[in-house]
Amino acid sequence: MLNIVLFGAPGCGKGTQAQRLREKFNLNHISTGEVIRGEIANDTELGRKMKGYIEAGQLAPDSLVIDIIASYLASHRDVKGNIFDGFPRTTAQAEAFDRILAEMGEKVDTMVYMDVPEEELVRRILLRGKDSGRADDASEDVIRNRIEVYNAQTAVVADHYSKQGKYARVDGVGTMDEVFDRICDAVK
Ligand code: AP5
Ligand code: MG
Repeated sequence: MLNIVLFGAPGCGKGTQAQRLREKFNLNHISTGEVIRGEIANDTELGRKMKGYIEAGQLAPDSLVIDIIASYLASHRDVKGNIFDGFPRTTAQAEAFDRILAEMGEKVDTMVYMDVPEEELVRRILLRGKDSGRADDASEDVIRNRIEVYNAQTAVVADHYSKQGKYARVDGVGTMDEVFDRICDAVK
C-alpha cells in the first residue's frame, strides 16, 4: 500500500493536487476537512461537535479527527494506496497515525510539503471564497487565522516526517501542472 501525506498551509493546493494524484496513480483520497464539512452539512452529532472549530479556523480536537482516520483505514484495507489531505495536522495526530498504520502492517511512504508564500495563500482562498460556500473562506480574518494556526500547530509536523527521512518539499507556486510534475518527481 502506498501512503502519501499531502501537506502545507491552507490554500497551498492539497485538494487540487490530491485529485490529480488519485487519477494518475489510482489511489484513494481522504480530506479530513471534507469529511468534517460533510458531517456538518448532514447535521450529525460529530458535525455539531466540529462546527464551531471549523468556522473559526481552529483545529478540531485530535481525538475526533484520529477516529475519522481510524475508521477510514478500517474500511479501506485492500486499496492500492491513499492520499491523506489535511491529516496529520499536529504531532499527536502524526504519532497516533504511525501507531494505527503499524498495527495494520502499513506506514507513511512520503510526506510532500507544498511551499506557498502567505500572500499567495490568502489571494487563492479569497478568490475561491467567492463561490466555495465554505464558512472558513468567507472572511480574510478567518483565512489569516487558519494560516496562523497552521504556523503555530501544524508546520512542526514536517519535523516528524523529516526525522523519518520521509519529507519532500516542493515549490507550490506555478501552474497546477507544474506543481503536479514536481510532486510526481518527489513521490517516485
Ligand atoms: P481543510 O479542508 O483541510 O482546509 P485547509 O487546510 O484550510 O486547506 P484548503 O482546503 O483551504 O486548501 P488546499 O490546500 O486544499 O488547497 P486547494 O487545492 O483547495 O481543513 C479545513 C478545516 O477543517 C481546518 O481549519 C480545521 O478546522 C478542520 N480540520 C481538517 N483537518 C483537520 C485535522 N487533521 N485536525 C484538526 N482539524 C482539522 O487550492 C486552494 C485554491 O487555490 C483553489 O481555488 C485552487 O483552485 C487554487 N489553486 C490550487 N493550486 C493552484 C496553483 N498552482 N496556482 C493558482 N491557484 C491554485
Ligand atoms: Mg482542501
